[in-house]
Amino acid sequence: MSINTVSTTSFPGQRPGTSGLRKKVSVFQQAHYLENFVQSVFDTLGDCSGKTLVVGGDGRYHNRVAVQTILRMAAAHGFAKVLVGQGGILSTPAVSCVIRKHAALGGIVLSASHNPGGPDGDFGIKYNIANGGPAPESVTEAIYHHTETIKQYRISDAADIDLNRLGATRIESMEVEVIDSVDDYAQLMQQLFDFDAIRKLFAGGFRMCFDGMHAVSGPYAKAIIEGQLGAPAGTVINAEPLEDFGGHHPDPNPVNAAQLIEIMAADNAPDFGAASDGDGDRNMILGRKFDVTPSDSLAVLAAHATVAPGYRAGLKGIARSMPTSQAADRVAEALGIPAFETPTGWKFFGNLLDAGKATLCGEESYGTGSDHIREKDGLWAVLFWLNLLAASGKSVEQLVSEHWARFGRNYYSRHDYEAVETKAANELMASLRIKLATLAGQDLGHYVVSFADDFEYTDPIDGSVSKQQGVRIVMTNGSRIVFRLSGTGTEGATLRVYLERYEADPKYHHLPTQQALSALILIAEQVAGIADWTGRAHPTVTT
Ligand code: G6P
Ligand code: ZN
Repeated sequence: MSINTVSTTSFPGQRPGTSGLRKKVSVFQQAHYLENFVQSVFDTLGDCSGKTLVVGGDGRYHNRVAVQTILRMAAAHGFAKVLVGQGGILSTPAVSCVIRKHAALGGIVLSASHNPGGPDGDFGIKYNIANGGPAPESVTEAIYHHTETIKQYRISDAADIDLNRLGATRIESMEVEVIDSVDDYAQLMQQLFDFDAIRKLFAGGFRMCFDGMHAVSGPYAKAIIEGQLGAPAGTVINAEPLEDFGGHHPDPNPVNAAQLIEIMAADNAPDFGAASDGDGDRNMILGRKFDVTPSDSLAVLAAHATVAPGYRAGLKGIARSMPTSQAADRVAEALGIPAFETPTGWKFFGNLLDAGKATLCGEESYGTGSDHIREKDGLWAVLFWLNLLAASGKSVEQLVSEHWARFGRNYYSRHDYEAVETKAANELMASLRIKLATLAGQDLGHYVVSFADDFEYTDPIDGSVSKQQGVRIVMTNGSRIVFRLSGTGTEGATLRVYLERYEADPKYHHLPTQQALSALILIAEQVAGIADWTGRAHPTVTT
């Protein structure tokens, strides 16, 4: 075994996006591509000697190859120890949990989240810091700058280690410990939720379907829901992680999780349905013939948080990303706790959680989580709902309808225009920004604009400013239209249009969502000229 210094030249575009560096697998397969990025991470970290690193991924194609490369490079940078999930598998929330529990310097997550996998799919790499959360922009930008000037990297020439066998081995003087992918995470869940109450729920005949989407959360859900909570075998479907996710798109929304939606729409549907995404940080919650929007899920959990042992002391605050509906703000107001509005991207919650200002966080993009770790957490949300269902004895639909009756309903939908030509998408946003100043006070038919701006966020903890985080048009009654370009796509640009209408009157709480939002949908088209710029008459995906 020896450590070699390898000459390299920089690759353009190794700038991490909303959630790490994501590219096609073929891009990552180029010689030196992954190595350049990993070297830049280690250069940014400085002295790694004596430190512990956590490594794991969602099991997608290229995961094992990348893990072996990272291990060899970590050994060449003086790490004392690397904790790696068995088979190279760790969900994103599990990485966050393991970093915190073992006081690691940080962790590397190999995932492109919900993006398709397989040889023609996407791959991704993300660095998480010592608090268990995604690196802040200052760190990702520093990594990016290193990638621009990189000339060499260091790597051991050691052979591959056996990732399937639990236990410790060595590369150079570094210890590599292959850990059970589920154990640490499951222990944390046992502390947060009332497992006894959920066990009784299942013992009483309660039925559930959890769709692992052939991605990383299958093994976690099997071990916890079927194993520890006693749900019948077969409760978790598509449980085995596959390198190409079985050819499906591992994104739990009503479009991609069609099989689960069908199961939950049947006459003999289970009481509760849920799914998680490629790397296990997203969640979708369903009742029998009933979908719960992520924004409503956050609000309902917040309103009932004290049913769970981990949250019995109450919440310190609730944070949501700006495009997420304002339903949670109403709960925060009722609870007399602060509500925070951050830019899209889980990393923006990190400082609020570290400072003890927020306990629950959520995003419209099927992300919910809390201060137990520093990532959003799919299975955590599912267990929280199970705890709530067990404690209340009510159905999902009943809980949500009662929530609306108490707080009013924030009708909500997101319209995505995927793979739009980047130039056209940028021009659409630029022309919207020019219009902003003229919109306030305008009567748009059904709605009068209260204000329109480009969301800017000043982090209350470190004072950092993030500009141009989405154009919002806010109506006098609190209804909103938000426009922004996705930071996670890999093909052209994705325009996201977020539509939200507040309805206080329970008489109008059960309209079809798109119908309830139709006037806002029309205004969005008129104001932004979506069809003109994109050439698309309809969104690609509506959730
Ligand atoms: C990832 C991030 C989330 C973000 C979502 C959508 O899942 O972790 O924080 O909300 O992507 O981001 P996008 O930029 O595509 O709207
Ligand atoms: Zn994800």
